[in-house]
Amino acid sequence: MPVEALCSQTEAYWFYFGWSRVYERMQKFFTSNEMREAGLDLAEIHEPDLRVLDVGAGTGTLSMQVQERVEAQNLTLIDQSPHMLQQAQAKPALAKASFVLADAHELPFDDDQFDRVVSSGVVYYFPDPVRALREQLRVTKRGGVVLAMGSLQPKPAFVRFFANIFNRFPTEKQYVQWFVDAGFSDVHYKYISNPWNASQYALAIVGTKGDESPQPPRATPPVTTVVSRLRGLFYLPLALARFGVGMAAFAIIGPLQVLNAYKGMRRLEAEQAEAIR
Ligand SMILES: C[S@@+](CC[C@H](N)C(=O)[O-])C[C@H]1O[C@@H](n2cnc3c(N)ncnc32)[C@H](O)[C@@H]1O
Repeated sequence: MPVEALCSQTEAYWFYFGWSRVYERMQKFFTSNEMREAGLDLAEIHEPDLRVLDVGAGTGTLSMQVQERVEAQNLTLIDQSPHMLQQAQAKPALAKASFVLADAHELPFDDDQFDRVVSSGVVYYFPDPVRALREQLRVTKRGGVVLAMGSLQPKPAFVRFFANIFNRFPTEKQYVQWFVDAGFSDVHYKYISNPWNASQYALAIVGTKGDESPQPPRATPPVTTVVSRLRGLFYLPLALARFGVGMAAFAIIGPLQVLNAYKGMRRLEAEQAEAIR
């Protein structure tokens, strides 16, 4: 059974407590603007007055690209990590955007508020992706579109083994099922990749809040009882062990990814220099 260590809100919170310090410097080895542009095109974000919500916005990487397509005051960023969100808030281009510190499983917005809800590299952190997507459906206006961009199961078995210890890496089928189960219509996807490595691709998937889509009720936080508190206490040593194993797996696959990306970038540079000659 995969450990999927970060596929838990608390563990993801503590991971980003540390990772936020180097996130901006390391991100270019994992994803690229080109990849995100392809996803934003799929969600048809072409008019400046669209109201857009960026879920799990982190340091604002995706929002920086969204604000080139819509007015920054129409953009809302939400994340559960204050350490990530603070860095987005410091970006002058996002000065007119709104920032919300909250859990994506309970969006603090009324129904039918946004024309587009977008996320990149986020949906597989959710302990309950369908519940989180249902919340995104709820706050989307009818006719609006929800976009999620995310990694897929790595192909090499060795990498896949460690990746599944670190976090959840869904298949195309799982992504589609999550969107369908949440109530979206017209669910479709395309593959997106970094310019320096087309063979390592991710997924951009969209769903529409169509006329036939349900209007989900607002999600409510789970009630805390004595039993749930006790369960939490019992869970603590397990959670610590799971987190430790997940971090060990990341210490193996993280540098591998950086090396792979670095080689791809050098190769691309050499090809471009050759083409100019
Ligand atoms: C890989 S980062 C992606 C950040 C940004 N979207 C980007 O493309 O650079 C994942 C983000 O999801 C956030 N996140 C994870 N679980 C969350 C939850 N339950 N609610 C809100 N944000 C969450 C993390 O705090 C982190 O900032």
